[in-house]
Amino acid sequence: MNNQLLLDHLRCIPDWPIKGVNFRDVTTLFKSPEALNEITNEMFKLYKDKEITKIVGIESRGFVMSSAVAVKLGAGIVLCRKPGKLPCETVQESYAKEYGIDTIEIHKDAISEKDTILLHDDLLATGGTMKAACNLVKKFHPKKIYCNFIIELSSEFPNSRKLFDKDVEITSLL
Ligand code: PRP
Ligand code: ADE
Repeated sequence: MNNQLLLDHLRCIPDWPIKGVNFRDVTTLFKSPEALNEITNEMFKLYKDKEITKIVGIESRGFVMSSAVAVKLGAGIVLCRKPGKLPCETVQESYAKEYGIDTIEIHKDAISEKDTILLHDDLLATGGTMKAACNLVKKFHPKKIYCNFIIELSSEFPNSRKLFDKDVEITSLL
């Protein structure tokens, strides 16, 4: 993988949205056709043999690559959203994140026991968001759960992967 290409397109904003957070801005990755293509191809390579049936994209920056990669994998997309955005009955989970508390939800009829799920988000920091998403998805008893991030802040948050059960396979590109 061309790590340098991605790193060259990633913008970091110190002290945003609050003091002490070094914000990794993936919008500068997404606006580059080369970086977008690299991420899509890398994710496809990682999951092409895993028989993924649905990608669960986490609002909002997790939606972007979920869409591109789902098309390549021949999978569907499930939206994992902030509260009050989905029109039908949902399952919810609340969690603490690097800068506040949040809740996410998925439609109750979005996933079945026959699905193999790839959960995707742009970034792993504390792991609170993805752990909550995993907890939600587990309630549907899918065959298998994979998790993927574009960026994993492993130096700043070295313990985040420990939150996840061993049967959940995690990958990140950077
Ligand atoms: C960011 C990011 C992840 C989450 C990671 O989302 O996109 O979803 O934080 O942090 P964590 O590992 O500490 O949980 P944010 O809540 O800022 O929402 P957005 O994508 O809608 O901007
Ligand atoms: N979400 C949580 N922490 C973040 C960070 N440092 N950069 C971008 N998104 C984030």
